[in-house]
Amino acid sequence: MNRTTATRELGQFKTLEQFIIERQESFPHSTGAFSRLLRDISVAAKIVNYHMRRAGLVDIYGDTGELNVQGEVQQKMDALAHREFVRALRRGGECCLIGSEEHAEAIPIRANGGSDGKYIVLLDPLDGSSNIEVNVSVGTIFSIYRMPEDHVGEVTLEDALQPGSKQVGAGYVVYGSSTMLVYTTGNGVNGFTLDPSIGEFLLSHPNIRTPKTGTMYAINEGNYNSFEDGLKKYIKWCQRKDKATGRPYKTRYIGSFVSDFHRNLLKGGIYIYPATASSPEGKLRLMYEANPMAFIVEQAGGRASDGHTPILQKQPRELHQRTPLYIGSEEMVRTAEAFLQGEMDLD
Ligand code: AHG
Ligand code: MN
Ligand code: MN
Repeated sequence: MNRTTATRELGQFKTLEQFIIERQESFPHSTGAFSRLLRDISVAAKIVNYHMRRAGLVDIYGDTGELNVQGEVQQKMDALAHREFVRALRRGGECCLIGSEEHAEAIPIRANGGSDGKYIVLLDPLDGSSNIEVNVSVGTIFSIYRMPEDHVGEVTLEDALQPGSKQVGAGYVVYGSSTMLVYTTGNGVNGFTLDPSIGEFLLSHPNIRTPKTGTMYAINEGNYNSFEDGLKKYIKWCQRKDKATGRPYKTRYIGSFVSDFHRNLLKGGIYIYPATASSPEGKLRLMYEANPMAFIVEQAGGRASDGHTPILQKQPRELHQRTPLYIGSEEMVRTAEAFLQGEMDLD
């Protein structure tokens, strides 16, 4: 909850549900399906939040002993979050296909007796999950597409392989010192804080705008030796003293993308996960991490690219595709791109 909450009564805040309904009413031909889909996602977020808050008390810390499709150790909470989101979306009936970081194949959803839903949801059920055991913020990231207009027959993976520019909604939940849900439908970005006493997300951060520039950069600098030259120079540039631009910038790297992103969105900054020797295509996933956050950051006035191409323009080839990612305040991302493309150099 933001600072004003302490002095405002709970009833003065708009709930997520009220906000969604108000927005829906401004679209005269809306069927309400999209609003119901957002409600289903928020219900799953509350359930995951509930488990997250109890994680220290019960045996859901730690790994399952299994590897996920990326070959990474699957945490118990990864599996739990995946299950809860799939369950909520299946029950809601507005979604026809789910793609999840924790599941190798796209999951088709058949509505019980009714017509199939028309939305595709791609998600990272739990981002930053290796941080859970040390009590550091983690999150959920989601991306929403409509079924392609020309779709015929069974829903297939191909239907999900749309560029990020086709997203009709995207958001994240950060399970932090408070739990927040931030989302966009292409008409600005709004943030809601979960009030645990009444179990509602309340509009605490209306119309979020991200600063044009900032003084924080987030990157795993341990990989420095395998960065391309342009990136090495950009990092040196960030560390140089310069009064006008507020350098040297501060390094802030949580290792939990949602949390690093959320901080930068509110305060200004850049997050970078570049190509490295061990991850030549970068580590983060285009469909679950880069695309939804790129949609959000652009809607808040920021920028996202792979260093060369805007993220939202990339045509995906596969569900679990990875991409290098430069995301955050517009001026900072443009400067990093200029170094990568040889347009800027250290003097
Ligand atoms: P996930 O937990 O969904 O696999 O994502 C982990 C990601 C991201 O959250 C974080 O920024 C990054 O991995 C950290 O990677 P390094 O440890 O390589 O820096
Ligand atoms: Mn992730
Ligand atoms: Mn994850």
